[in-house]
Order: sequence, then C-alpha cells, then structure tokens
Amino acid sequence: MENSCAVEAEYFCKDFDWEEHRAEVESNPSFRYHFESTPSSSSSTQSTSSPDSDVQAWSQFHIRHASGKFFKERRYLLKEFPELLSSPPNSHLKLLEVGCGNGSTVLPILRANKDVVVYACDCSNETLERAKEIISGSATGVASFKHRFHTFFCDFSTNGFPDWLAYNPCQDKILKESYFLSDFKGDNGLRLTNPYLSEEFDCCVGGVDFVTLIFTLSAVPLERMPRSIKECFTVLKPGGMVLLRDYGLYDMTMLRFEPDKRVGFREYMRSDGTRSYFFTLEIVRNLFLNAGFTELELDYCCVKSVNRRKGKSMRRVWVHGKFQKPALS
Ligand SMILES: C[S@@+](CC[C@H](N)C(=O)[O-])C[C@H]1O[C@@H](n2cnc3c(N)ncnc32)[C@H](O)[C@@H]1O
Repeated sequence: MENSCAVEAEYFCKDFDWEEHRAEVESNPSFRYHFESTPSSSSSTQSTSSPDSDVQAWSQFHIRHASGKFFKERRYLLKEFPELLSSPPNSHLKLLEVGCGNGSTVLPILRANKDVVVYACDCSNETLERAKEIISGSATGVASFKHRFHTFFCDFSTNGFPDWLAYNPCQDKILKESYFLSDFKGDNGLRLTNPYLSEEFDCCVGGVDFVTLIFTLSAVPLERMPRSIKECFTVLKPGGMVLLRDYGLYDMTMLRFEPDKRVGFREYMRSDGTRSYFFTLEIVRNLFLNAGFTELELDYCCVKSVNRRKGKSMRRVWVHGKFQKPALS
C-alpha cells in the first residue's frame, strides 16, 4: 500500500529522469516478466474478477487495517494542487474525493480551506465509518468539519455516482421520480435529508468543482476505467477539474510484485485480492481525453527516498495530472 516516506519531499519532484529509469528497468533481465505482453496462464484467470469480489477485497482490507496505524495526512497535495487553497472567500467550493479511505486526502483540505465542502465516497462502509471518526476527532474548537464533510457508499466503477450529486437537472429528475420524492421530508423543498447520506444537506448538490482521484483509479480494473472517468466528467460542473495522483509505470512497488501477481499488462493483484495498475502518461492522457477532458498538467513525479533502517534507496514513480471539463461557451 502507499507508503508516504519523506512526505514533504514528494512535491512534484524530479529526483531522477523517468526515461533513464525506464531504460534501466527494461534492460534488467530480472524484471523481464513485468513487460511481457500477457501474464502467465496461472494468474491470468484472475484478471476478470467480478466487481463484487473487488469491493469485497477492499472491504476486508479496511477491516484488517481498522487501527488506522497507516493513516497519514497527504499534506503535500496542497502544494501539488494549489487551486484547492486559492478559492475566493465564500465561494463554497464542492469537492468529491473518490475512494476516500480513512480520509488522508480530505483532512488537510478541510483544515486548509474553510470554504470547501467535501463529499467523500468509498466502496467500503468500514472505511467510511473510520473516516468520519478521524475527521470529527481532528476538528478543533469552532473549526467543526461536521457540516463540510459528507460520506456515501459507492462503487463508482460499476454503478457510477448517485443522481443527487450530478451536475445538471437533478432537481427535475427528483421531482419526476415520486418514489424518490417520498423518501424526502423537506420543509421548503431545498433543505432535505438524503436517504443515502447520514447527514442533512442540500439534496441536490448540482455538480462539484473538483474531483480528487488519489491512488484510487489504479485500484479499478483497466477495462472499467473508461466508464469510471466518464462518471467523474458527469459529476463535475463545466470548468471543474479532476486532480489525479497515482502509481506510475516502474514504481518500486510494481517491480516488487512476483510474477504470479500479474493479472494483466501492468496490472497486479495483491494476495488480499486488491488490485493495482501502473500508469504511463499516454494511458492517462487517452483515458481522460476520450472522456471529454482537456489536459492541464500531466507528468511523472520521480522521487528517490531512502529507507534509513534498511539503508536502501527506493525509486518511487507517480503520475500527477490535472484535467478540466470544458467550460460552457
Ligand atoms: C489506496 S486507497 C486511497 C485512499 C485515499 N484516496 C487516500 O488518498 O489515501 C484506495 C481507496 O479506493 C477505494 N476503492 C477501490 N475501488 C473503488 C471503487 N470501485 N469505488 C469506490 N472506491 C473504491 C478503496 O476502498 C480504498 O479506500
């Protein structure tokens, strides 16, 4: 799992050149199995695991790691994505964190910008509960996060996001769907309790300004990624952005996978059933441009970090991306 070593040093770094790293890896015979085009037959049967088993694997993962021992705020994201801080006063930015885990990404954002309201989803109820505990336990004094942090369960790769979150006429849709309307008990039709959320808030969010995908897209099987990104497009307001950080090709964690963990080209499955894909810039670019986004930033972030205890130098490769939904003309 993602290990935030040298957290401050992770900011959009270029400690080494990615092309040189690639050449080195590809000329090393012990890594050859990573770039053979198809995984060995014994493991390839796992490549088409069902959405249910993927969700189950993450759920079990979060149950096993419920102590929150690995929780670390990703403060460096505020430097990587300064737009999260630069909102005009009272702009009431809306942000959707997809695959929020225990809240490592959303906590520093909530702390740093009191004008942001965060909607956070995950395919594990266990981790959503834990995130709520951590976020409410981290609020100090008057800076309560309760009204700015809303969680909901969702597997965005198969079911997409709920209608109440979407940009566009979700109000019309709700009014037409009587079964849905009967679930609400609002006084003025605006402030209602959404049946899928535990907290009260405006039932129709009407789209978000930012979607953060922080080490979540890599957990989705490659064949479900195009639909997943289209879902992010749908939920954004025009001019809104996806902020992406994820595993890059030939990251140290990829090179450590044993041959039997390969389930597809650049795709791996851990012993616990959770998956990880390792991206090139080309794959990321194709996925986002095909969904209708404009590319604002896309690069490898290459960081050398030293494990002092083992005296080993580790080469981390991440992809950093910023993609925009075109504004209405
Ligand atoms: C590596 S963790 C990243 C957590 C968080 N974004 C962060 O910055 O620490 C990936 C998270 O994505 C969630 N996840 C995996 N597949 C998902 C899916 N299809 N829909 C929603 N969440 C998913 C997992 O449960 C897990 O919490």
